[in-house]
Formats: sequence, C-alpha cells, structure tokens
Amino acid sequence: MNKMKKAGTAASVPSETGVAERIEALLGRMSLAEKVGQLTQIGGADFIPGPKPEDIIRSGGAGSVLWLNDTKKFNALQKIAVEESPSKIPLLFALDVIHGYRTIFPVPLAMASSWDPAVAEQSQAVAAKEARAAGLHWTFGPMLDIARDARWGRIVEGAGEDPFLGAAMAAAQVRGFQGPYPGAPDHVIACAKHFAGYGAADGGRDYDPVYLSETQLRNVYFPPFQAAVKAGVGTFMSAYMDLNNVPASGNRWLLSDILRGEWGFQGLVVSDAFAVGSLVVQGFARDGRDAAFRALSAGVNMDMASNTYMQNLAGLVEDGTLKEAEIDAAVQPILALKVRMGLFEQPYIDEALLDQVIALPEHRQVARRAAQRSMVLLRNEGRLLPLSKNLKNVAVIGPLADSKEATEGSWMVFGHQPGAVTVLEGIRAKLPGARVEYASGPEIRRDFPSPFDDFDPGKRKPAQTPEAAEVAFQTAVETARGAELVIMVLGENADMAGEAASRGSLDLPGRQEDLLKAVVALGKPVVLVLLNGRPLSIVWAAEHVPAILEAWEPGSEGGNAIADILFGDANPGGKLPVCFPRSGSHAPLYYARTLTHAPEGSPMYRSRYWDSPTTPLYPFGFGLCYTTFLIANLEASASQVKVGQSVTVTADVTNTGRVAGDEVVQLYIHQKAGSDSRPMRELKGFERITLQPGETKTVTFHLGPDELGYWSTNADRWIQDAAAFDIWVGADSLATLHTDFEVVG
Ligand code: BGC
Repeated sequence: MNKMKKAGTAASVPSETGVAERIEALLGRMSLAEKVGQLTQIGGADFIPGPKPEDIIRSGGAGSVLWLNDTKKFNALQKIAVEESPSKIPLLFALDVIHGYRTIFPVPLAMASSWDPAVAEQSQAVAAKEARAAGLHWTFGPMLDIARDARWGRIVEGAGEDPFLGAAMAAAQVRGFQGPYPGAPDHVIACAKHFAGYGAADGGRDYDPVYLSETQLRNVYFPPFQAAVKAGVGTFMSAYMDLNNVPASGNRWLLSDILRGEWGFQGLVVSDAFAVGSLVVQGFARDGRDAAFRALSAGVNMDMASNTYMQNLAGLVEDGTLKEAEIDAAVQPILALKVRMGLFEQPYIDEALLDQVIALPEHRQVARRAAQRSMVLLRNEGRLLPLSKNLKNVAVIGPLADSKEATEGSWMVFGHQPGAVTVLEGIRAKLPGARVEYASGPEIRRDFPSPFDDFDPGKRKPAQTPEAAEVAFQTAVETARGAELVIMVLGENADMAGEAASRGSLDLPGRQEDLLKAVVALGKPVVLVLLNGRPLSIVWAAEHVPAILEAWEPGSEGGNAIADILFGDANPGGKLPVCFPRSGSHAPLYYARTLTHAPEGSPMYRSRYWDSPTTPLYPFGFGLCYTTFLIANLEASASQVKVGQSVTVTADVTNTGRVAGDEVVQLYIHQKAGSDSRPMRELKGFERITLQPGETKTVTFHLGPDELGYWSTNADRWIQDAAAFDIWVGADSLATLHTDFEVVG
C-alpha cells in the first residue's frame, strides 16, 4: 500500500461552490452506464451470487459496496475503482455499524435508557472512529423507528416508544457518527433509517404492512427523522414495508414531498436491502423495469443490492421514459458525498490504522460508562442491592451468564467475533477472593431459526436433548443451593431480537422462568439480571425476586458494568424508554394515548381486559436508584402566555438518600382541550442530573411553540391551539407533581 495515498483523515471542508463545480465536471464526462453505476450499491460478500464485485467495479458499474468488512479488500477494490474504472470515481464502503465497530456499546434501546444524549453521541463517535479506521465511510445508522409494540424484534435497534426522546437520541447519534460536518475526519456518514413507519408493523410482525394516519406519522413517527435532518444527516434509507399500501421504497410522498420538499433534505436516499427489486415481490411494480422507474421517481437515489437499477435504468433513459437529467439529479448527492469525504484525494485507508485506533484505552472506558448509564434498576426490595464485596460464595446462573453473544447483543457488525466481558467474568473480576460458581441451566433457542444463520451455518448447533436440558436444570439448582447469594442472568439470546426476530409472546424463553422459580424456592437472596433487546413480561419475577436489573444488551464491557452496578461502584440511573407490558398480548402499549370516555382504573373500568390489568408492569420513564430523590417546588414562569410565546418551568430536585446518584427529571404535558384530542401525557423535557447526598438542584425546562404545537387532523396542518395545559414533573411518566397554565390567543 506504500505507493497509495493514505487516508484516515480528510483534508479541509470543501466549499459548496467547489463541490458543485466538481460534480458538474464529473457528470460531464461520465457515460450513462457509469451514472447508473453510481446509483448501484453491490454486496461485497463472497456468498452473494452474480458477477464478481471486481468486474462490476472495473466497468464503473458500482458506486458503493456493502456487506464487506475487510480493510485490505477495501483498498484492493478501491484501487480498481480509481485506477481501472472509466471515470476513476472512488467507492463508498458501507456497513451496519449500529452500536460499535470493534468496541461494542449498548444496543440503541439501551443507549436510550441512559436518557443521556451525550453518552449516545460519544459512543457513536468512537464507533465512527473505529469504522473509519477500518476503511468504512458510511454506516446504516441510526435506526430511528418509533416502536410501541414489544413483539417487534427491531425495537432493540431504536430509542423506544417516544418521539421526544427519540428525536434527542437521533440528533445525538448523527452528531456522534458524522462529527461537526458530513465528511469530517475520523467520522463516517450516518444514515437515518428506515423511513418511515416501519416500527408500526401490524401485530409486531417484521416486514408486515403498516397503516398510520398522517397525524400519527407527523406527531409520532417523523420527529426523530426530522431531528436527524436538522442535525445534518448525510443519508436516509427507505423502509421495506407498505405504508398505507404504498411501499416506502416507492413512496413519492415520503421521499420527495416530505423529506426533500418540506424538510429540505439534500443528501442521498438508499433503499433498504433488495427493496427496489422487492417492489415487484410486494405486488406494487409490474416488473424490474417498473420497479426501477418507480423507485427512482419516488426519490431513491441508490439501489441497495437488488441490481434493479443496474439492469433497467439505462433502458428507461434510452426509450425516453426517464430523462438523463433525472439520472444526473440522482447521482449528484452521491458524488457530493464522495467529494466531501475527500475520497478523490485520499481514496485509500492506512492498513495499520485500525489496530492503533482500537487499542485506544478510552474506547473501552466509554463503553463501560455507557453500559453503566444505560442500565435500569426495576426492583430493589429491602435494599438488597448494592451487594457487599465481602460475599464469599456466589452462584451465577443462567444461559446468558457467560454468553459473549448475548452480552454484545443484536446487530453484530458483519464478520465480527463477539469478545465481550460476560456477566460471569465481570463478577469474578469484582470478587477475586470469592468462590463464584456458574451453571447455565437449559439452553434457550428460537423455535424457527433466524434467516441470518444462513450467512454463518456454523451457528446452527444441534438442539440440546430434553434429557441434557433436565440435567442442566438440576445442576443449576444444585449450584444455587450451595451459594449464599444467587445472581440469575436470564433473558434473550442475541438472535431473539433484531431483524426477522419478532415474537408473539414476551415471556422469558425456554425454561428460564421455571428455573428462576426453582432457585427462588431455595430461600436465598436472588438478584435477577436481564439481558434482552425488548421489554419482557416478567410479572412473576416482579413479585417474587427482590432485585431486578434490566441490563439490556450492554456491549463489550457489559459484564464489568453489570458488576459495577451490582456491587455499588456505579449507581444505576437509567430509565425505561418503553413501557413493559404484562403480556405480549397487550402490545402495542404506550403511555401517550389519548383519554377516553371511560378512564382506565376508575371504579367502573378497573382494567381494559377482564382477565388482567392492562396497565404496564413498569411505566415509561421508570427506573430506581440506590438513593432517593424528592422533586418539589414546581413552578411555571407565567400562568398565561400568548400563542407563540414560551413558558419556563422549574422544579427543585434533592437527593434525600445517603449516596450520590442520578435522577432523570422528566416533564410531561397534556393539552386539556383543543382542535384535536391530545395525548393524556407527552414527554416534552428531560434532564439527567447527578446529586450528592443532601444536594439540591433546580431543573429548568422551556415550553414554546415547538413543544406545544402539533399536527392536527381537524386543521390538516401544524397548529398551536389557545388552550389550557397540565404539566407534571417527576421521575417517570406517572409523575404526580402538577401545575397548569394557559395559552391564550
Ligand atoms: C436491514 C437494514 C440494513 C440493511 C443492510 C436490511 O435487511 O433492514 O437495516 O441496514 O439490511 O445490511
């Protein structure tokens, strides 16, 4: 690689006029076939059938490569592109770097549980630095789909159920990935996905159709995407599914009218994988030609992996169905990205860089802190936690207790080997002098294997026999019997949440709950640590297990971070970004519903179902700490303001316990009447603060037109009503500290 110019850092920020001039010059000398090539993203993995990537690239037939994670190969392919292809345009290398490249951070749902956008930003900045050092330019993240149905597997990839929290996490992740501007050194281009509505799949079944009104889209599902545009995100990905019977990847209203027209997005839209070709499979386009035409005209610049553009676009121009100017317009943002990233000047990556970058000690430190901050303490009866470091004899039980995969979690970077510190390892490191015995109990596995196992057939191990499972069960109980305290590590394997990983039930899979019951029956103190990528229905545990820590899928440093929390070296301060339904059959469930004529919980309507309470087991925003807080003195700066004006809301928060700790102070509003019914509560402000024992801080929130306005069904536009409002400030979405104020015309 010596003769090649090395990159790792780009030069200076090119001026807008400079970029435009270069693009014009490039377009002027490119053939139609090469232009279509720029609109084509090909798979770089060996298992993908069809022509070899080298040959496609040599002919100028590809603008970008995905599903490749090999620094040497990046340079080799890039060399073909810049030395042998007709116009010598460098390639963009793209991959799903969702929660870390080599250093793995908590999954996005966990990151959102930190309620700390700075932590998300910092984590994604590290992920970007590692990915860029490996030779990648572009990540398919952040995933910004609001998810209110815990059965949907991809809930793990996003920030949960709430648009306000989702928007804050969206902007933070875009800043983290991209840095100060798209193309900044040590960063990658971000991709806001999957536009839009994917999280509302019917029945939580992945890929199934979505029916959402414009009101729901604009008030709930769009805000994180809008926040990403405001934060300067370079690219968008169109979703797979039908939105109101129009596939998102052929949806002109979404991709052109809203995204580009209303929001002014100027970057590139890539389809989801094979989604352009799938317009035929979905019964929308007649054939590949029709699919290419409809996706391009809807606003999809780049065809991910389906080769539909490659096979059809030139023909569509030649027969006059499309104008070459339309192709030029689609190519333009792709070339702009390449110019901004400095790829024409520095197309290659220094092959020694990655090792230096991943060795930086701060990466692991950021991962450990992010994991600590994202964990949620759900129960702590009798203050069982934090545990004493003088324990001498501890049992660590459960199928996930020593699983690197489950600790790193869903969405592993293509080709990545999980190397996380497991819970067992973390506890052993914390208690060097103690006896720490481990038993896994019976294995857990999906009833239907993941379609992604096909990429790695080695993953398909034969199932444990019922006899072996029974032995494992009894061994686990016996191991627990010999200990003074038991830490159970239960939940879901990494392949049980994520894409194509939806479930009908939210129960602990396999025999885990039976094992938990058998261990609790021993009468010893039991701590339950959950590793999972979605809310689980843990109704029994919530009544019978004294301490429950929701650790999610915490990443490379997960085991250490869990041990830090369990033994009091870190104080849990995370809060749920989704509510926990009591049963999978209660999904979708979310807090921001509108009121009804028959208030749930009133004497006549104690529950919406006659066979169980319909309230969540744990509400949105909930999480405990090792100390206690008092939130008081709620005040609004004015009892009345005019439409368009802002009001300032303050509350005092005091740490009333004996140790330092974090509280996430949350502000909810409710508009009492107006053009439309409004949700009974909506999060409109939050701040995570650290307080020493006895310390008090005043937290300040602003409520202005952005927070008080909404998209109205009746007005068919964005409005702000003159109306009366409730305000609550507290520690979760059931906060009771209340005041009110009025907006007048
Ligand atoms: C997923 C996307 C992902 C893409 C590329 C698709 O199956 O839906 O989220 O970015 O594959 O790996």
